[in-house]
Amino acid sequence: MDRYLVFGHPVRHSKSPFIHTLFARQTQQELEYGLAEPAVDEFAHALRTFFDQGGKGCNVTVPFKEQAFTLVDRLSPRAKLAGAVNTIKLTDDGVLLGDNTDGAGLVADLKSHGVTLADSRILLLGAGGAARGALAPLLAELPSELVIANRTHTKAQQLAAEFHDLGPVTAQTYEQLAGPFDLVINSTSASLQGELPPLAPALIHTDIAIYDMMYGASDTAFISWAKQHGARQTMDGLGMLVEQAAEAFTVWRGIRPGTKQVLRELKRNLGVI
Ligand code: ATR
Repeated sequence: MDRYLVFGHPVRHSKSPFIHTLFARQTQQELEYGLAEPAVDEFAHALRTFFDQGGKGCNVTVPFKEQAFTLVDRLSPRAKLAGAVNTIKLTDDGVLLGDNTDGAGLVADLKSHGVTLADSRILLLGAGGAARGALAPLLAELPSELVIANRTHTKAQQLAAEFHDLGPVTAQTYEQLAGPFDLVINSTSASLQGELPPLAPALIHTDIAIYDMMYGASDTAFISWAKQHGARQTMDGLGMLVEQAAEAFTVWRGIRPGTKQVLRELKRNLGVI
C-alpha cells in the first residue's frame, strides 16, 4: 500500500493522519498515513530513510519545514516564495518535489467562510514562517492593501520589502496601525502562551473578519479578545489545517477531496461540536 506520513516534533497530537485517512476513504484511494517524530538533528536521515524504503510522500510540520526546504531535489514556485516546505512528493522519475500548501489552505478556508479578499484591506499580524507562507497567496487575491505588523518591526519591514513586487504590501508598527481593516489574520504564536498581540481594541469593529491561524477545543486568546471587542465573524485555523491537507492530497494523488464533511468530523473528534 502507498505510504505517507507527517514529520514533526512533537507530532503525536497531529490531526493529519485522521484527515488524510478520511480523504482516502472518501476518494477510494488505497494508502496509509502515519506519524514520524525524529529527534531534531535526525530529520534529514529519517526523511531519506522513509523514501528509500518506498514512501510516496510526506507532510512536514514544526520544526522541520525550513530544513525540508533545503533537503528536496526541486521546489515548487510557492514553496520557493514561502521559504519552507510542508509537502513532499516522490515523483514517478524519482525526484523529491518540495511544495508548500499552507498559504493556499488559508485562502481556501477564508473563501469557504465567504470572506472577500479582492480590494480588501488586510492586516497580517506576525512576520515568522507562517506569515511568510501566507503572503504570496494573499497578494494573489488582489487586496487593496496588505499591512504587516510584528512585535519585532524590522522583521515585518524585511518581509514587506521581499514581497513588494507581488502587491501593495507595507510594514507598520502596532502603534502606527490605522483602520478600518476588513480582515485581520493572526499568524503570531502568541496564543500558544495565552498571550495577545498588542493590537489596539479600536481596530476591531462589527464588520471585520478575524482569522487566527491557531486553533483549539475552545476559542483562542485572540478570538476571545476580538469577540469581546465586537467582532462578529471569527475563524480559527482548523479549516486551514483541513484545506492545506486537501491541497497536499491533491498534489500526491491527483484527486481533490471534499473538505466540508472532513472538517465536521474533525470538529467532532476534537470535541468542538
Ligand atoms: P511561525 O513559524 O509559527 O510563524 P515563528 O517563525 O517563530 O513561528 O514566528 C512567530 C511570530 O509570532 C513572530 O512574528 C513573533 O514575533 P517576533 O518576530 O517579534 O518574535 C510573533 N509572536 C510570538 N509571540 C508573540 C507575542 N506574545 N506578541 C506578539 N507577537 C508574538
